Amino acid sequence: MAIIAPSILSADFANLQRDVEMINNSSADWFHVDVMDGVFVPNISFGFPVIKAIKKYAKKPLDVHLMIVRPEQYILQFKDAGADLLSVHIEACPHLHRTIQEIKNAGMQAGVAINPHTNISLLEDIIADIDLVCMMSVNPGFGGQKFIENTFQKIDNLKDMIIRRNSSAKIEIDGGVDLKNAAALISAGADVLVAGNTVFSSSDPVATIKQLKAF
Ligand code: DX5
Ligand code: ZN
Repeated sequence: MAIIAPSILSADFANLQRDVEMINNSSADWFHVDVMDGVFVPNISFGFPVIKAIKKYAKKPLDVHLMIVRPEQYILQFKDAGADLLSVHIEACPHLHRTIQEIKNAGMQAGVAINPHTNISLLEDIIADIDLVCMMSVNPGFGGQKFIENTFQKIDNLKDMIIRRNSSAKIEIDGGVDLKNAAALISAGADVLVAGNTVFSSSDPVATIKQLKAF
């Protein structure tokens, strides 16, 4: 059974408390929280005040995905805002090992996010130190995009590496996850499924989360 992490990016921001409570009352496991800076990705989402507002009502862990440059400058502020797990992009971190240690020292779980074009082999010397790989299955920046099929190949390679390196990192798939590809992703080795559009465009989000959880 996979961990299901609905993405708040697709929530109704004018009814954020209602949507947070919907997730609380569903079989979802985590809140996936996308932070975009308009520099690392061509979109701006939200920052600390919104994360704090989510945290105020959330009864499940906050899985915060940073799509920002220089994420190491804000680690303590994300902890303070309520992040339980913090993922930084490998493409944004020249000193990734240090950044991962700082996230852990701040008392959070540490994840590394990786873009569709970035080769999994670059994770070889960090995989044993991290709790999660957030594998992008779309180009980061927007919800509701089409799933990139090459992701399946990357899951295979990553799974091998995790076993070979005796890592406990979970594989999270982020982007374009739907009711058609979820089962195949889980059998390929995905541990966590992020779902934005699939959950929030559903006429019955709680039932859709339950369906994802049942695969
Ligand atoms: C994209 C974000 C995703 C996004 C997923 O940059 O990282 O978390 O919210 O949305 P869907 O599930 O709609 O592709
Ligand atoms: Zn994300």
